[in-house]
Amino acid sequence: MLGPVLLAVSRSDRMRRLVAAAPVTRPVVHRFVAGDDLPTAMDRVRALADAGLEVTLDHLGEDVTDRATAGATRDAYLRLLEALDAEGLGKRAEVSVKLSAFGQALPVGGHDIALENVRQVAAAASAAGTTVTCDMEDHTTVDSTLAVVAELRREHPGTGAVVQSYLFRTEQDCRALAVPGSRVRLVKGAYKEPASVAYQDKREVDRAYVRCLRILMAGGGYPMVGSHDPRMISIARHLAREAGRVAGDYEFQMLYGIRAAEQARLAADGERMRIYVPYGADWYGYFMRRLAERPANLAFFLRSFVPA
Ligand code: FDA
Repeated sequence: MLGPVLLAVSRSDRMRRLVAAAPVTRPVVHRFVAGDDLPTAMDRVRALADAGLEVTLDHLGEDVTDRATAGATRDAYLRLLEALDAEGLGKRAEVSVKLSAFGQALPVGGHDIALENVRQVAAAASAAGTTVTCDMEDHTTVDSTLAVVAELRREHPGTGAVVQSYLFRTEQDCRALAVPGSRVRLVKGAYKEPASVAYQDKREVDRAYVRCLRILMAGGGYPMVGSHDPRMISIARHLAREAGRVAGDYEFQMLYGIRAAEQARLAADGERMRIYVPYGADWYGYFMRRLAERPANLAFFLRSFVPA
């Protein structure tokens, strides 16, 4: 019941200021966010790579409303890719971008501004021997984001898309994306969406996830299974085998700080396992979505306000 409330306040500037100012917030945030700056994030990447895990890095930020901040997001990713290249980590780590942080929501020319900014990041990623995956945000952005991915793929075929099983349209999108060379991360979806476009019942979202998995595994693309759900993971492994795929013809992805033991177990079992590692100072929206997903996370956060 609290989930929708948390998702609503995840976009409130007033709550952003209140939560960010609370002195006890930081240790809890750092359970889900790798650090505030690039050097700390690079330490985490090295540690994860040493443990046999792969990484996708997210420089936190979203809903940018001016062109200068969108340019600053692009520059932060260029610095990140430079650092990955300098350490030869391009084979183990890629980057995930939110187009709203690249200017997509700007009222005039937002789509083109975001495309131009992210094009530079995709070029830097290719030069560093790695790839970009475009995260999916709320349903109003899906057409624009998939169009950006299609455009980037012309020059950088490894560019990945994300699809959300809670949206009614997604099975159709999966069919269109399940083609050779296409990298597709399937997730359940983390935004507050209306009943006109998205399933509201968790069981429906799970059933849709399985239908989408089936399409992606049977298709010609590279499925990236973004879920912590043990049932989805076991079904994905079964469908992969049924489709004649071996580990490395698909991969699992989980978020930093969530089910770390399971991440290690899957990697030890021979699966390709990639960890989504967010870093940066603008953690509020990301953090609130993690709290909304699971009451236990919210309880953990609230307990931190109680003096020991
Ligand atoms: P579900 O929420 O049903 O949980 C299943 C089980 O997983 C739980 O019972 C619990 O054990 C564990 N679990 C799940 N969430 C947890 C949490 N926060 N803390 C602790 N345990 C938890 N969304 C989106 O809209 N756009 C995007 O681009 C992305 N990108 C993305 C990348 C990657 C790599 C992942 C893993 C996820 C995303 N997401 C996302 C988020 C996604 O949409 C979804 O909200 C979460 O992954 C939670 O859904 P699950 O599939 O994990 O299952």
